[in-house]
Amino acid sequence: MPTAPTDRAEPDHRPPPPDGSGELDTIEAVAWRRRSNLRVDPDRAIPHDLVERLCRLASWAPNHHKTRPWKFCAVTGSGRTALGAALAQELAGGGEENPAKIAKARMKYTRAPLVLVVASSDGPDEVCTAENRDAVSAAVQNLLLGATASGLASLWSTGAAARSARVAEVCGFDPTDTVVGLVYLGWPIAEANAPVDRPEPFLCVLDEDPSPDPVT
Ligand SMILES: Cc1cc2nc3c(=O)[nH]c(=O)nc-3n(C[C@H](O)[C@H](O)[C@H](O)COP(=O)(O)O)c2cc1C
Repeated sequence: MPTAPTDRAEPDHRPPPPDGSGELDTIEAVAWRRRSNLRVDPDRAIPHDLVERLCRLASWAPNHHKTRPWKFCAVTGSGRTALGAALAQELAGGGEENPAKIAKARMKYTRAPLVLVVASSDGPDEVCTAENRDAVSAAVQNLLLGATASGLASLWSTGAAARSARVAEVCGFDPTDTVVGLVYLGWPIAEANAPVDRPEPFLCVLDEDPSPDPVT
């Protein structure tokens, strides 16, 4: 079984046990089980220790130049309606005239006990900003896998909230930060919807040097 990192830098080269419980099997099983699921108990809290642990796990994602671009805001309790109010205000201010849409935005975060808003900080140039965001996306996947392994249901959402300056402000992010996702987390009360289609990915094997261009 995987163990928590220690200060000792001694790599463990032992092969995984041959009983199907190796690390790859474990990761595959957790990744397979992870599904977007918002069927959660909105009133059953998630211990703060677990939230901290999941954010720490997220921060172990690969990160070019070690810029540590991730920022998290754990929205819970009445913070969920404060966040919803911020989004509703932004929608109304942006010309949304459908009152049902505004009302829905106001209450949407109360569907789960916790919404973790995840942002990526800007870099000094376009490439760094893009790579920061890539790193934060990898961090979100770490978080989702950790949540699944903890028995939590999760859903990564974006939409208008991810582009809302008010939402970012309420979360304590800088105006130059980008919200990469709002991750709903909660204890499941039902399975996710229909099984998701997971076709084999494109995999190109390049095993030899390509033939050199003919000399003309
Ligand atoms: C960047 C990103 C944004 C997403 N935004 C939303 C969203 O706004 N609303 C939603 O219901 N699902 C959202 N999803 C979840 C996907 O719809 C979901 O992952 C996909 O349907 C596959 O299902 P699965 O997560 O159960 O495997 C988002 C996923 C990603 C990676």
